[in-house]
Amino acid sequence: MAGNSSAIRVAVDQSSIDFQFARDVVEGLSRRSKSLPCRYLYDARGSELFERITSLPEYYPTRTEAEIFRHNAVQLTAPIAGGDFFVEFGSGSSIKTELLLAQLPADVTYMPIDVSQTALDEAVERLRMRFPGLKVTPLIADFSDVSEWPLVLGRRRPTLFFPGSTIGNLHPAEASALLSRWRAALPQGARLIIGVDLRKGLDRLLPAYNDAQGVTAAFNLNLLVRINRELHANFDLGRFAHEAIYDPRYGRIEMHLISKARQTVTVCGRSFDFNLGEGIHTENSYKYNISDFQELARLAGWKTLSVLKDGNDDFSVHELETFVAPGRDEPAFL
Ligand code: SAH
Ligand code: AVI
Repeated sequence: MAGNSSAIRVAVDQSSIDFQFARDVVEGLSRRSKSLPCRYLYDARGSELFERITSLPEYYPTRTEAEIFRHNAVQLTAPIAGGDFFVEFGSGSSIKTELLLAQLPADVTYMPIDVSQTALDEAVERLRMRFPGLKVTPLIADFSDVSEWPLVLGRRRPTLFFPGSTIGNLHPAEASALLSRWRAALPQGARLIIGVDLRKGLDRLLPAYNDAQGVTAAFNLNLLVRINRELHANFDLGRFAHEAIYDPRYGRIEMHLISKARQTVTVCGRSFDFNLGEGIHTENSYKYNISDFQELARLAGWKTLSVLKDGNDDFSVHELETFVAPGRDEPAFL
């Protein structure tokens, strides 16, 4: 699959990805509180496991957001005209996206952007079959890096699409910086449709990240499998356990990999000691109140056009538009 990619490789070549990965892992494991960037959860196997998570009975976000798109697809896509760009960040399988793609006029360009090459390849192959009139131009890139965007996006008024509450995997300060960076790269009047998971009781949150079949555990532990394979490491998977907890101070789920013993692990020729019970923090998943998220977006230069929710208030979809705050200049385009 990976050998026959249809994705445009404008990101970085394989050796520099590995180098960046090695640097990030060594840096993260050298910290007093060990941590790893969550984007590395998505190698081929990680993307496959995430897809299995999306249909678990306990994992409510995907089906709830899909229900919101199903009910509001016409409204959300109405402003998109033929010739426009529809750009998705962290597109993964693009399965939910089909609900919106089905409403788009001919001649729209759909640009899925993701770091997972296998997820992009599979999605693009499926979408080209299902939507033969759609131009699909995938990009393997980090969504936080606007310098990777084709110049045309800064000159047109694209609709950006960031579903799944992937924004929740960033610290709010990083989320704000990301929205500001995107805003600065776009003209006034560009839209962003963004999925944001909402705060709710522990009885729903904890099972969603500690599912009975252990798929989320496998997704988390797969990060160690990836590090073993790509960085010549020797993590013993039997000696680490998945843990997901909710921290009410920050309104976030945290995923950790907990060492079940005192042990030393070698990565890239460097040794890292673990105490019994010591964890590696692998992911945050922030849950928002609607007004808090709107304020975060507003401060980053995005005004709210509409907020859509499911009947249970579990999940929200925000339709935002770039605006210029009074007294401020229009930001420079790319
Ligand atoms: N949008 C899909 C997938 C969400 S999973 C959905 O809603 O179901 C998160 C996706 O974001 C994965 O496909 C992962 O590979 C991608 N991703 C994570 N961090 C990324 C980054 N920094 N840049 C680009 N893609 C990223
Ligand atoms: C992609 N992201 C929004 C998921 C989430 O819910 O934070 C990733 C995930 N991690 C564990 N389960 C799902």
